[in-house]
Amino acid sequence: MTEPVLEAHHLTKVYKQRRGNDVVAVDDISFSVQKNEVVGLLGPNGAGKTTTIKCLCTLIGPTEGEIHINGADAIKSPRLALKHVAAVLEGNRNIYWRLSVRENLEFFAGLQGLPIRQVRSHIDQLIELFQLKEKERTEARKLSRGMQQKLAVACALVKGTEVLLLDEPTLGLDVGMSHELRFALKEMAQRGERTIIVSSHDMSVVQDICERVIIINSGRIVTDDKVSNLLKLFQASAYRFEIEGRLDEHQASRLQERFEMLKISEPDYHTEIEVELINGSQIYEIMEILKAGDSCIKAIDRREPDLEEIFLKIVKGGAN
Ligand SMILES: Nc1ncnc2c1ncn2[C@@H]1O[C@H](COP(=O)(O)OP(=O)(O)OP(=O)(O)O)[C@@H](O)[C@H]1O
Ligand SMILES: [Mg+2]
Repeated sequence: MTEPVLEAHHLTKVYKQRRGNDVVAVDDISFSVQKNEVVGLLGPNGAGKTTTIKCLCTLIGPTEGEIHINGADAIKSPRLALKHVAAVLEGNRNIYWRLSVRENLEFFAGLQGLPIRQVRSHIDQLIELFQLKEKERTEARKLSRGMQQKLAVACALVKGTEVLLLDEPTLGLDVGMSHELRFALKEMAQRGERTIIVSSHDMSVVQDICERVIIINSGRIVTDDKVSNLLKLFQASAYRFEIEGRLDEHQASRLQERFEMLKISEPDYHTEIEVELINGSQIYEIMEILKAGDSCIKAIDRREPDLEEIFLKIVKGGAN
């Protein structure tokens, strides 16, 4: 068994308020991340994602709990732990406005004590990967917000640290830019050279690049599993029936009573029923109900769930 690269033990963060009403932003969460794992942190607004990431990069001190990064105690010896970490926080594009794209990358590599000659090809690769070649001589302040965001992530990567923490990297980017950044992150993830924790509202970011997802709600972990496991689990139980014409009232109410209905839609001259089944034999029960109303079944197939749906389900049925 390998040592985890990052470990959080019983992490709790309470924001003290002057007039009482303290906010428990992170409430006793524990997880560990293995070397080169790519983990998504998902949760609704206010779930505690940013607070967790800020604790992990020692920007704020937790109220309770422990964090170890590469064996170093991040609370007692933050400097030692931070040697292994680069972070890009939400809305904070930590780059130098007056330096060009390439100069920024050289600067951040230099800060790590990496000689420019040694990192030149890495910088070339990053410029290529983040599609910034055309702008490599442009000052950061003259870039679009999306490009600045890509540069901020590239600057975090050029440091060559083992751990990369990204808080909402695609927030506020348009579809094209978000896609470019996601593509670059996916490439990074697939190379398997970094341990990445990425928080995002954008489920497709997590579904695309992460092998594992930790879902948090109200400061607590509600799920910690492989993305593929979650998708499989839900795929097995979600079915779609297509029938000719419309359901009659009796059929519709029996279906609603008996099953967890995901959706009933009525495009054109047919009806689509999406339903979640607890076991396979329930298929026959649905067929009975449909047959009783003389409905003709045109197709039955398994639905492909996406992470968004799973997320909503878990969070709705979740922590509280
Ligand atoms: N500096 C602060 N002082 C007081 N409360 C705070 C502070 N920062 C965050 N909070 C509260 O802590 C809780 C968690 O906030 P956090 O920013 O970690 O959530 P988040 O999951 O990142 O949300 P979002 O998706 O909106 O970015 C929220 O209730 C928030 O209002
Ligand atoms: Mg946040």
